[in-house]
Amino acid sequence: MVKEIKIEDLNPEEFIREKVEEISAAVGDGKAINALSGGVDSSAVTLLGHRALGDRLTTYFIENGLMRRGEPEQVAALFGEFGVHVEVLDAREEFFAALKGITDPEEKREAVTQTFYRDVFGRLVREGDARFLLQGTILTDVDETVAGIKRQHNVFEQLGIDPEQAFGYKIIEPLVQIRKDGVRRVAEALGLPQSVWNRMPFPGPALAARVIGEVTPERIETVRFATAITEEELAEVDAFLKLALLHEDRVTGMREGARDFGLQLELRCWNSVDAREGTPTEVPWPKLRRLADRLVAEVPGVVSVTYNLATKPPSTMEAV
Ligand code: XMP
Repeated sequence: MVKEIKIEDLNPEEFIREKVEEISAAVGDGKAINALSGGVDSSAVTLLGHRALGDRLTTYFIENGLMRRGEPEQVAALFGEFGVHVEVLDAREEFFAALKGITDPEEKREAVTQTFYRDVFGRLVREGDARFLLQGTILTDVDETVAGIKRQHNVFEQLGIDPEQAFGYKIIEPLVQIRKDGVRRVAEALGLPQSVWNRMPFPGPALAARVIGEVTPERIETVRFATAITEEELAEVDAFLKLALLHEDRVTGMREGARDFGLQLELRCWNSVDAREGTPTEVPWPKLRRLADRLVAEVPGVVSVTYNLATKPPSTMEAV
């Protein structure tokens, strides 16, 4: 059982000191790796790890083909400013090969998990001398995975899986006692800019969590384009999470007088504190209309755009 540190009991500076010590003690004079996506969790872990281990920690950005526009370049540039070198590793073919033909949501999540942990990190460990992986699992990831709601890509020990036996390295999880709101305070105390500590959450399986049905490079490109437009148009809207997802079903549309059996996008904006519960954000109608107009005009093949009004629960925030 993980012991929760509630937000009211969290002292970010003290937390940082303790976690830096714990990481140093666990790794000893060994080496570690971590994957940085640019999200608040992995960004906080990256800085905690570098404080503890210096250049005995190698930080990778895994380019899995499922990330948003421009993410690898932005993340590498930002952490460069903190003196952290980020190795960008191109694993796009591996991830798309693992996802080919899979439509079941939990099987898709499992394919992403195995490609990250068994294939990519496993290879880095086999080919190098790191024996530890630092990662940004938070308590909500553990709760929802253990409850069988969604298999978060980064939870193992709590499911009875020993990462050392399964993948050949130990996993260190400095954030596992806190939730998103706590991580934001720790990230701020670590000196990360507001654009990082206040960043919208983004799931480990990345845009694959926003494609219903098979994940292909083409379908990811559709969601990537829709995501860029959605984040741009809703930039001023205050919400915990704003996303666009692609449906599997097509619907009959019309373009220039001809039938167009086209794609359906769904928009979701969530109000939430820590992702455990959520309600739909009341986005002003003119903003939604403008966004919908841009999506059908700019994203190839899209003829339908809907806005989700359900709450979590029973919905979850991401589609997959
Ligand atoms: P759900 O869809 O579970 O999303 O209601 C709740 C929050 O968690 C994020 N999310 C994930 N984060 N690994 C993560 O690190 C995952 O596999 C994952 N799936 C969902 C989601 O973006 C939202 O903020």
